[in-house]
Amino acid sequence: KSMNRIPVIIDCDPGVDDTAALLLACQMPELDIRAVTTVAGNVGLDKTTANAKRVRHAIGADFPIYCGADKPMFRELHTAAEFHGADGFGGVELPIPEDVLPEEKAWDAIYRIAKELNGELVLIAVGPMTNVGIALAKYKELPKLIKKIVIMGGAAIGGNVTPAAEFNIYVDPEAADMTFCCGIPVHMCGLDVTMTAYITPEELEEIAAFGTPQATLVHDVLQKGLEKYVGWGKPGAALHDPAAVLYTVYPEMFTAEEAGVRVETKGPLTVGKTVTDLYSDKQFDDHNAFVVTNVDREAFISKVKELIKKY
Ligand code: RIB
Ligand code: CA
Repeated sequence: KSMNRIPVIIDCDPGVDDTAALLLACQMPELDIRAVTTVAGNVGLDKTTANAKRVRHAIGADFPIYCGADKPMFRELHTAAEFHGADGFGGVELPIPEDVLPEEKAWDAIYRIAKELNGELVLIAVGPMTNVGIALAKYKELPKLIKKIVIMGGAAIGGNVTPAAEFNIYVDPEAADMTFCCGIPVHMCGLDVTMTAYITPEELEEIAAFGTPQATLVHDVLQKGLEKYVGWGKPGAALHDPAAVLYTVYPEMFTAEEAGVRVETKGPLTVGKTVTDLYSDKQFDDHNAFVVTNVDREAFISKVKELIKKY
């Protein structure tokens, strides 16, 4: 059936769940992946970029990859190598493809493609939002050229790097606040929904049993993180970045509420917190965002399995 495919750029910091998100995105006929852009986050830019190349090769995909920022806009880089592994690839050993990437920087590619698409581009950002912040700082008309931004990041309640902050926002809070303030509608898939979008050990074994190299990669790259979640007494591994990608195409599985969202960039205890008026007096004057608060986990996981099974 002919469908209006959604033209997207996926900005990411692979990253074990970024890897799963890319494997899923490439099996979604509704998505027209115009580019993948990489940013420093879970691990350094050289490694997030190497991992994006590994995933592209493992999928046999042909999306262009553009490198972005090797550190946050105004701060030093904090990585999450303790969770994602030194390579950021969950300890999975795959050769790094030799292909040379274009010189064009992520923020320039985002602007160029947004202009080409004349307002239809949807940006899915599942790492620190440094590339988005730089693009906004460099191209003042960018907000008119991007239809919406779907992020994995933030939390109306809670945090994972500190009690107040989620990793992607914590790493580059200034870039995140610029993104929420720029006028482009932001759909925030934060911990409120991604901690519900978990995969259990049994479900990950089901995926491994599909037996394809891609299914095996999803299993192997997520396995160590899954063991950590189980060790923390959780029912499974939060599929943070896949939740943002599936939300973009299957929003009916999710619950989202309009709210104002700003980012704390100063507080010693709260820097990186996405402050929303969702659970308070709705007094933020600009309701610039949609906070995704829940997902039908069964529907989510069955779609994840269906998409991986297509390999
Ligand atoms: O807090 C989870 C987020 O931080 C995910 O995007 C994960 O890949 C890391 O970047
Ligand atoms: Ca990520």
